[in-house]
Amino acid sequence: MEDKFGHLISYLRISVTDRCNERCHYCLPHENQEWLPREEVLTYEEILRVAKVGADLGISKVRVTGGEPLTRRNVLSFISELCSIDGIEDVGISTNGTLLTRNAWPDSDETNATALKRAGVRTVNISLDTLDQEQYAKTTGRDYLQKAVDGIEAAVAAGFEKVKLNSVLMRHKNEHELWNLIDFAREKGALIRFIELMPVSSAEVLSEDNFLSTGEAKKLIEFKYGQLTPLPDFKTNGPASYFQIPDTGQIIGFIGAMTNFHFCETCNKLRLTCEGKLRPCLGSHLEFDMRDVLRNPGLNDDDVRKFFLEVVARKPEQHDFRENYQPGRRMIAIGG
Ligand code: 5AD
Ligand code: SF4
Repeated sequence: MEDKFGHLISYLRISVTDRCNERCHYCLPHENQEWLPREEVLTYEEILRVAKVGADLGISKVRVTGGEPLTRRNVLSFISELCSIDGIEDVGISTNGTLLTRNAWPDSDETNATALKRAGVRTVNISLDTLDQEQYAKTTGRDYLQKAVDGIEAAVAAGFEKVKLNSVLMRHKNEHELWNLIDFAREKGALIRFIELMPVSSAEVLSEDNFLSTGEAKKLIEFKYGQLTPLPDFKTNGPASYFQIPDTGQIIGFIGAMTNFHFCETCNKLRLTCEGKLRPCLGSHLEFDMRDVLRNPGLNDDDVRKFFLEVVARKPEQHDFRENYQPGRRMIAIGG
């Protein structure tokens, strides 16, 4: 699928739930969040149907996200079915990591980490903004730093192709920890990426005061590690730019959604929210209700296919976060 700006769409992010066991203030701000009622959330069968039609249209990579995807019941069986769809070559998961060491099934020792690996998942992205226990608890609303660190270790031990760490940059919160986070990633054998805070939660967290750009973060890192070498040819699935630290050779990434004006040029993504909205762009308010098509008994896979193509045709050239900052849309319902 190609849109009118030449973006080739091969990547679908699927949110399987809006629920989470953490409460990151930039994602889901309130303690007493109302979750979507179950009937509004797509069933696994519905999601698999979307993925199959998507695969026919050239989707080859899928990332399962949430909320926290590991909070949804039977998500492992769903993921293994996803991995077996013809044409889907690369399945990844984005998680906060805190449930990776938990038992996958009631009567077995297998953990979520090893079960995901066995299901065929290739990459695991884990959120880790800080290594300070107190700051972790403040940022995520939960005192789960140790669980997240154990989860990262379990993911590395399980032997995924890639374990990536995602750190959202926040002035005063983790700007003084960037070096520690980099060292931690190196010691654990994970690839760390620093992400600019995006205006997607209903909390007013995106202010001049706590925004830290990737440019500034890079300067802070270079202050200790020396000049970073750009690696223009090193690519993962997304829009990160990668650099190498001279002495250790460690590779680190930056996701400058707000300050990099070329950010959207190579976008290859669509997002499916857990309630079945197909979104052509995270940073635009456009979304189209695929659930209506899926639940209409008079419509078939051809109609689903047409719907995909219509949404791709409406994909914007670039996100409009910068011009159109609108709080009130929760990241957790879109798929982080
Ligand atoms: N800005 C940037 N990144 C965010 N994430 C969640 N909310 C935001 C936001 N407002 C990140 C999480 C996780 C990934 C799924 O999305 O930290 O790493
Ligand atoms: Fe949960 Fe991730 Fe959102 Fe935090 S950022 S509340 S861990 S979904």
